[in-house]
Amino acid sequence: MFKKSISVDFERLPKHIGIIMDGNGRWAKKRKLPRTAGHTVGAKTFKSIARYCNKIGIEYLTVYAFSTENWKRPKDEVDAIMKLLKDYLVDAKNFKDENIKVKFIGDLSPLSDDLKQLIKESEEGSADATGLNLNIALNYGGRDEIVYAAKKIAKKVKEGIISPDEIDEKMISGNIYTASQPNPDIIIRPSGEYRISNFLIWQSAYSEFWYSDVLWPDFKPKDLDRAIIDFQQRNRRFGGI
Ligand code: IPE
Ligand code: IPE
Ligand code: MG
Repeated sequence: MFKKSISVDFERLPKHIGIIMDGNGRWAKKRKLPRTAGHTVGAKTFKSIARYCNKIGIEYLTVYAFSTENWKRPKDEVDAIMKLLKDYLVDAKNFKDENIKVKFIGDLSPLSDDLKQLIKESEEGSADATGLNLNIALNYGGRDEIVYAAKKIAKKVKEGIISPDEIDEKMISGNIYTASQPNPDIIIRPSGEYRISNFLIWQSAYSEFWYSDVLWPDFKPKDLDRAIIDFQQRNRRFGGI
């Protein structure tokens, strides 16, 4: 019988991991705490998982921090999430110390000026890092990203730089936020939901999906290990045999 390995094979790590950091609200509700308390602990989990990915040698990690749809939430909650992000970025020095290269993906235009400034500083301050490439998806939507790419390409057509016949998958991949990065090998969603919620929809065409009932604030490096071990048992065919 096929023997399932019980430890991570560090020679065959996924290159790019995507995580939908979900379940903060339910974590708080279970403890009769305000939802924002779940986001606070969720932010800690984010730091520890990013650090762990960097430590074991993952090349790319994309975390879903705030979707284009999350503006529907009460203003207090949105403000609390933005404040947590700010606190994280004020700590931007850590990125350098930890050799993590940070990049934000999403439509950053509606964010406050101070948040935009902090984002710029963290990206510039970590630009030379050679460790983990950390993408933080903020005001990110996969559909919105495709619209963004379509507009960029349409402008080039209008200016006569390219012809419509030249548009191909490679060009679209080259005009989305993750241009030049590998597609995610595995997408992890904790919290017991089995959906993509507009995360990396173009890039995940051949990603492996991994779900868990653990709520994001409770998610530990050992849970990431479980996802990686499962991933390493799978047979990816990409349409071949
Ligand atoms: C994920 O946790 C964080 C964001 C979407 C910003 P949720 O806040 O969605 O937690 P649940 O799904 O309500 O438990
Ligand atoms: C997805 O979680 C977005 C983030 C984790 C940032 P949601 O909680 O917003 O997704 P739905 O509403 O359950 O699909
Ligand atoms: Mg949720």
